[in-house]
Amino acid sequence: MSKQTVLTGITTTGTPHIGNYLGAIKPAIEASLNPAYNSYFFLADYHALIKCHEPERVARSTQEIAATWLALGLDTDVATFYRQSDIPEIPQLTWLLTCMTSKGLMNRAHAYKASVDANRDAGKEDLDDGVTMGLFSYPILMAADILMFNADIIPVGKDQIQHIEMARDIAGRFNHGFEPLFSLPQAQVDEATQLIPGLDGRKMSKSYDNTIPLFSSTDQLRKLINQIKTDTRAPGEPKDADSSTLFQLYSLFASEAENAAMRNRFAEGIGWGDAKTELFEFLNAQLEAPRQRYNDLMDDLGYVEAQLQKGAVKAREHSAPFIGNILAATGIRPLTYVPAIKTDETVKKEKSAEDIARAEQGRRRAIVMQLKREIERVEAADDKAAEAQAVLAEKALQVESLKKKARQKAENELDVLREELSRYLG
Ligand code: TRP
Repeated sequence: MSKQTVLTGITTTGTPHIGNYLGAIKPAIEASLNPAYNSYFFLADYHALIKCHEPERVARSTQEIAATWLALGLDTDVATFYRQSDIPEIPQLTWLLTCMTSKGLMNRAHAYKASVDANRDAGKEDLDDGVTMGLFSYPILMAADILMFNADIIPVGKDQIQHIEMARDIAGRFNHGFEPLFSLPQAQVDEATQLIPGLDGRKMSKSYDNTIPLFSSTDQLRKLINQIKTDTRAPGEPKDADSSTLFQLYSLFASEAENAAMRNRFAEGIGWGDAKTELFEFLNAQLEAPRQRYNDLMDDLGYVEAQLQKGAVKAREHSAPFIGNILAATGIRPLTYVPAIKTDETVKKEKSAEDIARAEQGRRRAIVMQLKREIERVEAADDKAAEAQAVLAEKALQVESLKKKARQKAENELDVLREELSRYLG
């Protein structure tokens, strides 16, 4: 079985809070450690422009979100971690998909409909007042994010399920009308992390202004926790743990044993003041080390930037050749392009994922044959790692010097060589 690809993006408009951490970042980092998955995590900065026209805020948020993932231990050698705007193939694909997507589908998107409803409720004559084309076609950009990497599993919040379904629709339309190049993505919603309560007990969300920033300073964290809403029960009165925001937040960070002990103290009537102190001390102890790393990273943004650049190189190893195939499927091709021999048109269109994988394997084997000499050279060398690097560098140089037509072929060869030789590179 080939690996499943997990992909998710975070829009760069805010400061990461505890809800983002528990609901998205922590499970994503954990999934990235599972060898059954390839992970792609990215900063959705083009998405930020849909709702935020404050350059400083977008730039700051991008720094904060990047530093947060690294501070929490994301291994950028295992996961592909990149910034959307570093991948020019994404906006290229967005346009192609825009031409394949019916306007009616976009009319039904929740985000757009919410704006129209708000205009109607406000009695505005122009129901599209304040709606940009970015907001209107936002699900197409999101589909491009996903389809560009043939992602299978998309961990998201409930509000995003519709967008994943639209991405499936759009992929299906392309696969059917042109070539079956795209996997059909599936949303993955974790019910347990859908309801992380904020300061006022409602879902923690930037739009409710009830968040606890993940890396608040110690003082800020204490102050925010003191603001958490409680009821009027006095110390000594038994309290229901499950309906308490303080307990819920505690339990999301605690072990089972710690949870059981805290539940007991609620039953025994812990005072709200003491419960707040306990929660503060517990969270502060857990967040101290990553907070320190986060602050260090925010002081060393050159390092963070280099990590993103590394991720962009990795991501483009896939997206650059793939966009060539996608363009070719639509008829946008080098003048000298020779299409692959088609046998039976209808059979081809209904190829299963397995058939596609097999064809891909065949294509790869053919390229490996052509690269026999280079691979043998590495195998025969004393220092295999050094030789592998030399071979890759030579091929990369060759790619650079070629014209477009020959270049695609050499790029494919470079990709295959990278894979074949990766085991020597440690
Ligand atoms: N729109 C998503 C959100 O607001 C962020 C996002 C952009 C995304 N592109 C994506 C999520 C692709 C998953 C996959 O939460």
